[in-house]
Amino acid sequence: MISTINVTKSYTGQNGTITVLGRVNIKVARGDFVAVIGRSGAGKSTLLGVMGGLLKPSSGEVFLDGKSLWQLDQRARARVRAQKIGFVFQNASVIRSLTVLENVLLPQTFLPKPVTPDLSRATNLVELMGIESKIHAYSDQLSGGEQRRVAIASALMNNPSLLLADEPTGDLDTETESEIMNFFLDLRRRGTTIVMVTHNYQLACYADRILEMDSGSIVELSPRTEACKSSDFSSPLPNESQANTEKESRF
Ligand SMILES: Nc1ncnc2c1ncn2[C@@H]1O[C@H](COP(=O)(O)OP(=O)(O)OP(=O)(O)O)[C@@H](O)[C@H]1O
Ligand SMILES: [Mg+2]
Repeated sequence: MISTINVTKSYTGQNGTITVLGRVNIKVARGDFVAVIGRSGAGKSTLLGVMGGLLKPSSGEVFLDGKSLWQLDQRARARVRAQKIGFVFQNASVIRSLTVLENVLLPQTFLPKPVTPDLSRATNLVELMGIESKIHAYSDQLSGGEQRRVAIASALMNNPSLLLADEPTGDLDTETESEIMNFFLDLRRRGTTIVMVTHNYQLACYADRILEMDSGSIVELSPRTEACKSSDFSSPLPNESQANTEKESRF
């Protein structure tokens, strides 16, 4: 589905050059749910930006469904992004002057061919995120956690085959957090590939694979189940049957 080949990213400033990603090679198969963990500043958001076609790598390639993302021109890359990739930004990026519903519908306007706004899908997604009572509220009237849920609904609007989520549950309580993780498990069962960045080791254990970033390098923690049993990850492994089946059937 998506792979990075020798991806590097460096920034040059007044204090010289810093290398944020150093030859990162990862391969994510279709339908995989991969968690990326690592301390603050390790390069997780940078990696996600490069994989999502938002941040140009200094060198290396990103292949999405066999096509080199960074060899495409800007328009073609934007098209691929709109059609295939849902991106949840670390700082839940909602447009504050639009309502919840308008924010969720917005990604449809980026599709190459105009489509009739799919109000029923947007409404379903808003309900799934538990913010239906705010559907017509302007996004600047929402709490941080509500804005994050709008951002997740919006990232899923075009039914992306790849969901890149950067700390998607950052401002949420643990109950909502586990609801969203179960929702991600449901998406994965339906074939969506997910790469999720998180600081939270317990959330990482919902994924099939865990990659740890440290100073721009990445290692796979394996086997994942052993890692999740260790004290650092001390959480019960999620039970997929906990997923909210009523909500699932509406999606
Ligand atoms: N535009 C930029 N110019 C210079 N340095 C940058 C730039 N963007 C990011 N960095 C640096 O790259 C490093 C990695 O940043 P990144 O946002 O990828 O970290 P992160 O692992 O996502 O951290 P966090 O967990 O805090 O979100 C940081 O040291 C950051 O200061
Ligand atoms: Mg980050």
